[in-house]
Amino acid sequence: SIEKSLRPQTLAQYIGQEPIKHELRVYIQAAKQREESLDHVLLYGPPGLGKTTLAMVIANEMGVHIRTTSGPAIEKPGDLVALLNELQPGDILFIDEIHRLPKIVEEMLYSAMEDFYIDIVVGQGPTAHPVHFPLPPFTLIGATTRAGLLSSPLRDRFGIVEHMAYYQTNDLQEIVLRSADIFDTTIATEGAHEIALRSRGTPRIANRLLKRIRDFAEVSPDHSMIDVEIVDHALSLLRVDSAGLDSTDIKLLETMIDYYDGGPVGLNTLAANVGEETETVAAMYEPYLLQRGYLKRTARGRVVTAAGYKHLGRTLPEDNRG
Ligand code: ADE
Repeated sequence: SIEKSLRPQTLAQYIGQEPIKHELRVYIQAAKQREESLDHVLLYGPPGLGKTTLAMVIANEMGVHIRTTSGPAIEKPGDLVALLNELQPGDILFIDEIHRLPKIVEEMLYSAMEDFYIDIVVGQGPTAHPVHFPLPPFTLIGATTRAGLLSSPLRDRFGIVEHMAYYQTNDLQEIVLRSADIFDTTIATEGAHEIALRSRGTPRIANRLLKRIRDFAEVSPDHSMIDVEIVDHALSLLRVDSAGLDSTDIKLLETMIDYYDGGPVGLNTLAANVGEETETVAAMYEPYLLQRGYLKRTARGRVVTAAGYKHLGRTLPEDNRG
């Protein structure tokens, strides 16, 4: 599919995240030289930055298979046993949303990660007995949007921990140009730059916006290439503002200003007010507003900053703490 071909296959094709790539090249080469499995890897950061893609790239670079699943999909110990049982030596098990693993499954992972075995209880009541399962050496790659939600015993068992940062504009621009090429669509460099500026540092958003903008370009009467004008036209209709904020970001900030005098306000209250899950606000919306400097966290809750007021064209109240 198009989605698949958009995914880079190698570290060389993977754009941005330079410090992470630099480290991973070393760890991958060293593991290969020793003919060992790569140490367990934890990738954390906001959604859409390419954690799953990077896991697939690591598998490809290591020359091993990857089995992909997610925390909520592993409901009981037997589900984990089945997954681990399929692995060949050196293979990768990728668990997305690893912070959502059931506790009992997470506890089984400790010995699996540390010493490559699991103990499971087979049977019930008087016939219940523990069974010792040796496992092939494998690499667990865990991904999470919220590193803070991982228990420390689990977090401590990852030898390699990488924080995925929002992408720089020039990296996002390069990703947009690459994707446009894969889509076989013509785009001006300035058009790609404008999309990059308005994608919240997130490749998934940049690629999604590119697809919608391409639709506008293709149905325009003169069927022109994607230039800044078409980008701006499409993004205004999509309600993506000059800083890349979407209608939910704006609603969050406006709710804080209009109903809570700019804060402080708790995350749960805020999420309920805009009709989103607290987790969604915490993982997707808040991090970008924080990094943009429109929001700040205080001990008493979230507060809209002076820059946040200014971006919305609002007047900062006299008594503002901002
Ligand atoms: N597509 C999405 N993320 C990408 C990345 N980091 N590099 C190349 N292509 C991508």
